[in-house]
Amino acid sequence: MLPPAPRVPGQQQQMQQQQGQQQPPPWRQLQADLGHAAAISAVAGDKEIAFEELQFGQQIGEGGFGKVYYGTWRNTAVAIKVLNAQAADSGKLMAEFMREVTTMTRLPEHQHVLKLLGVCTQQPNLALVTQYCSKGSLYGLLHSPGCYLSWVEVVAMLLGAARGMEHLHANSVLHRDLKSGNLLVDGDGCVKVADFGLSRLYHGMHTMTGGLGTFQWMAPEVLANQRYSNKADVYSFGMVMWECCARQVPFEGLNGVQAALAVMARGARPDIPPHTPPGLAALIQECWAPVPEQRPGFDVVVLRLQELLQSLQQAEVTAAAAAAANATAASFNAAAATAAGYNVAAGMG
Ligand SMILES: Nc1ncnc2c1ncn2[C@@H]1O[C@H](COP(=O)(O)OP(=O)(O)OP(=O)(O)O)[C@@H](O)[C@H]1O
Ligand SMILES: [Mg+2]
Repeated sequence: MLPPAPRVPGQQQQMQQQQGQQQPPPWRQLQADLGHAAAISAVAGDKEIAFEELQFGQQIGEGGFGKVYYGTWRNTAVAIKVLNAQAADSGKLMAEFMREVTTMTRLPEHQHVLKLLGVCTQQPNLALVTQYCSKGSLYGLLHSPGCYLSWVEVVAMLLGAARGMEHLHANSVLHRDLKSGNLLVDGDGCVKVADFGLSRLYHGMHTMTGGLGTFQWMAPEVLANQRYSNKADVYSFGMVMWECCARQVPFEGLNGVQAALAVMARGARPDIPPHTPPGLAALIQECWAPVPEQRPGFDVVVLRLQELLQSLQQAEVTAAAAAAANATAASFNAAAATAAGYNVAAGMG
């Protein structure tokens, strides 16, 4: 797999000259907007990474923002998200990008929040460098037919994600694009909340006409473009919990617009599968309540998932003990039968 072709400085001006345009490139406009030529890199501060320091490996994904590559940086495995030209060429979106990078760099680190290692802000090579999660996204795991997940594993991952979200909200950061594709899983199965803060830019770049986007996970008040609070993330989390139980994409068969209309006009929600543990089913319903104020906060969600995990682990231990007891009884019976057979045989001899 070839690394992405760095966009050669000067190429943009050359193209504009060919097209007979006299406009300065948009990033120059942005720099002017910010009032200082060095303002962009100043935002990144000590998080600035020179693009040349990155070694690109395979492409591992693609989203609304650009392509994601596996790579190495200073002998560390990393994920490199290279912004696409649409984002990089828009001064307004770039300003937004920089604002969001600032949010991300200021957030205290947390075990369940994807770590931003650095950022390339030197036009035209714009990239975010984060820790690499070898198991990919929760979306990928949930929708791989061969991937078995026990209830304990599922609830443990949801608990990790809820802890990450609790941390974001405690630091006054709204995610706004919470979905299973933005929950990444590292080699130890630890879930990391990713792509918080980028959603505003994402929504600036996309319309609601796409196929699988984000709309299936979005709260009705966000879809309706009304004022929203951190409870919009709680709704999205409810949808992720549902997805873990059903192992289906929410509103499968509907595109983004159709799903959004069903949620806004009819208050539609997917059916909760009957095999869902009752405690989880109740929590899903509370999280996607139509009235935002009625949804629990992530502190409550964490407590409820903790309790659920404990009871599921207990049930697993009890089931394992019962299975072991059955196995012991069966082998004892078999041994007794063998001994009896031996005795019978010996008696007969
Ligand atoms: N840090 C990472 N470690 C491992 N894989 C990653 C990492 N970041 C992204 N990926 C992979 O790349 C895919 C695309 O990520 P990306 O964030 O660009 O798009 P998305 O989450 O599917 O959609 P959106 O554009 O709405 O965020 C992810 O689903 C995941 O499989
Ligand atoms: Mg993403």
